[in-house]
Amino acid sequence: MDFSTKPFDAKSNLASSKTACVVVGVYENKKLTAEAESLNKQGALSNALKSGDITGKAGSILVLRDVAGVAAERVVLVGLGVAPSAKSSGSIPNTTFTKIAQATASCLAGLCATDAMITLAVYGADLNAAIRSLVLAMRATAYRCDGLKSKPETTTTGVSKVTLLVQADHSARARTFLRNSVALANGIDLTRQLADLPGNICTPTYLANAAKKIASQFKSATNKLTAEILDKKQCQALKMGSFLSVTNGSDEPPKFIVLKYLGGKPKEAPVVLVGKGITFDSGGISLKAGLGMDEMKYDMGGAASVLGTMRAISELNLKLNVIAIIPSCENMPNGRATKPGDIVTSMSGQTIEILNTDAEGRLILCDALTYAERFKPAAVVDVATLTGACITSLGHHNSGLFTRHDEAHDALAEELLSAGTDTGDTAWRMPLGEAYNEQLKSNFADMANIGGSAAGSITAACFLERYTKQYTWAHLDIAGTAWKSGAAKGATGRPVALLTTFLINRAAV
Ligand code: BES
Ligand code: MN
Ligand code: ZN
Repeated sequence: MDFSTKPFDAKSNLASSKTACVVVGVYENKKLTAEAESLNKQGALSNALKSGDITGKAGSILVLRDVAGVAAERVVLVGLGVAPSAKSSGSIPNTTFTKIAQATASCLAGLCATDAMITLAVYGADLNAAIRSLVLAMRATAYRCDGLKSKPETTTTGVSKVTLLVQADHSARARTFLRNSVALANGIDLTRQLADLPGNICTPTYLANAAKKIASQFKSATNKLTAEILDKKQCQALKMGSFLSVTNGSDEPPKFIVLKYLGGKPKEAPVVLVGKGITFDSGGISLKAGLGMDEMKYDMGGAASVLGTMRAISELNLKLNVIAIIPSCENMPNGRATKPGDIVTSMSGQTIEILNTDAEGRLILCDALTYAERFKPAAVVDVATLTGACITSLGHHNSGLFTRHDEAHDALAEELLSAGTDTGDTAWRMPLGEAYNEQLKSNFADMANIGGSAAGSITAACFLERYTKQYTWAHLDIAGTAWKSGAAKGATGRPVALLTTFLINRAAV
């Protein structure tokens, strides 16, 4: 999909613009935007409003063809909701604008038209957010994962060339916002593609190759991008006894992936992103129930989102050092698999009694978090489809955010939360603390890998916290947000927007 911006001012003549679709807005009180008004010289748009075919509610839509006096083949009328009061400086809140963008995208995707000119971006409260909403919505609608069907599904091709009209005096800013949005969309696409692949294709080796591919695609004059893949032997040498215990029952070789992006100053402390890369989670000997087990191919959603984020920031040439660490393996049962009651020694030296082999995410992450220490990170953020309990707590709306409760960590939490709010990729902060830590006591080892049935997402985060004492750290539990189940089953690409925006903001200061 090809996006561009075009400056627009009072002298521009929209009615004579030749395009397959011109997209204009109308408010709920039947008031047309200035651009819509300029196409209404012969009353076609007012007549459509009078007919009641479009209400003007946010996201309502009507396609008019062959409008007299308009060069475009179609006028797409989009409802913008309640006309904003002068108090909100006449602009539409971001959440409403996202709805408008999604409706526009699905309408344009269903038309047999190749190009469209969209005049809506200027009505968003924030030009950056408005452009991002439109680009992400259009790209998300165009996303397909039918590569493994013997014949691709027949759908309309939809609009593939999009011009966003922006105020002439904001056109330089708009170009930057567009560039950021397209890079973000490319990152989200990569994340979705990787996550949607089945476990027999997307193995740890496949993820390692995906990291190498990003490294070779996006090396540039201003950044160093290198992928280093540690195999089982190298992990043994590093004493990653916890990570390796999860791989025991699988024939698929584990990979410990390190992707370094050095776009900042050479000595600047990096941000480290750690992604859970379980390419299939059967539960191991603590086997999961059969129903819906296929969705455990998404247990590498954290890894996929970290790779998507690395792709996005590499394409943007961000001036920041960022290191991705992805411990990747399968969690399978066989005769050599780890058993409940087994005790392992993590890379940190702390011992773990594995009471449930299905609580494997924390077992691979703890060694990755210890490995992260060597980079003397400015901050570490781990991303994991860690607990079903997080879905119970927050549903599918918010990712769970966990950090310690002190000044430095409150600041990091605030950065991540606001990056989420700004992009609609929201997270919600959860507590950590001594009381929850009690639940991890073991009679035989330094800790157990489960904390009982209460507060499951919090005790999982408490477990991770024990491996992060050397740096500022946050944990994102994306069990409820990384993919959708049911008829719309598929990866969402979350939390790439949150992470990428967090890093863009860090690079700006
Ligand atoms: N990958 C799962 C968490 C998960 C489950 C994510 C369902 C999304 C949907 C994780 O490895 C797991 O199995 N966690 C257990 C932990 C329990 C044994 C303490 C869980 O949540 O049931
Ligand atoms: Mn599990
Ligand atoms: Zn898992």
